[in-house]
Amino acid sequence: MRADLSVRAVDARELMDDPDADARMLERTYERFPLINAVVSRWRTVYRRDIRPLARQRSIRVLDVGAGGGDVSRSLAGWSRRDGLAVEITALDADARAIRWARGRGGHVEYRCAYTSELVDAGETYDVVISNHLLHHLSGAELTALMRDSAALIPHGGLVIHRDIARSTLAYLAFATGTLPFAGNLLSDSFIRADGLTSIRRAYTPAELSAVVPSGWQVRTALPARIELRYEVADAGS
Ligand SMILES: C[S@@+](CC[C@H](N)C(=O)[O-])C[C@H]1O[C@@H](n2cnc3c(N)ncnc32)[C@H](O)[C@@H]1O
Repeated sequence: MRADLSVRAVDARELMDDPDADARMLERTYERFPLINAVVSRWRTVYRRDIRPLARQRSIRVLDVGAGGGDVSRSLAGWSRRDGLAVEITALDADARAIRWARGRGGHVEYRCAYTSELVDAGETYDVVISNHLLHHLSGAELTALMRDSAALIPHGGLVIHRDIARSTLAYLAFATGTLPFAGNLLSDSFIRADGLTSIRRAYTPAELSAVVPSGWQVRTALPARIELRYEVADAGS
């Protein structure tokens, strides 16, 4: 259970990123993301705090980058529909396998297989750009590109919120021990436990993110071991 968490393990590969990954295991992994997100990701809080107030002012478009199986997108779509708000949600992932699986779940979400740079080139615009558990997948150059694209995708004002796990020994040990009892049942035949541990080794610390964010961006932390990269621009018309 020992791992060196003093530096980002940028060369560690997640099993789900392998193009030859076992298809059944990959699907079980998408299927199990909602469990993990329910315990650690806290998107209901973000919806109430940041997204719902904007949607109460006008209809909004939300882009979820690295949406994977689309869990967070479908949750946001469900909450906003229940609140009677006009929120159009696009779940974006660069992996066609994720988008194929997610599309089969419907949920009043538009699913697209692309990179953010393609949306920028196509002139797409949004009010809110989010991601969950994406940052640790990215190299330094990819992170810079994500921040540049996210800002470009909200030209009329809005909000960018990229949330992820923060790398720490405590987070690693908590995930390792917390998932151990479920390794042979709930999480079996999935990459959740192995990739979760690799994710924490690959994750940024708040200090590492703070050192690279351009001006206008903020790094926040929250429990449990959450890191939030934020960029906010007032409406061009306000
Ligand atoms: C750990 S999964 C998170 C899935 C989902 N956001 C969730 O929390 O359930 C990360 C996803 O990011 C996608 N991804 C990685 N790099 C990407 C990029 N540059 N652009 C879009 N998607 C990317 C991967 O294909 C993968 O599906």
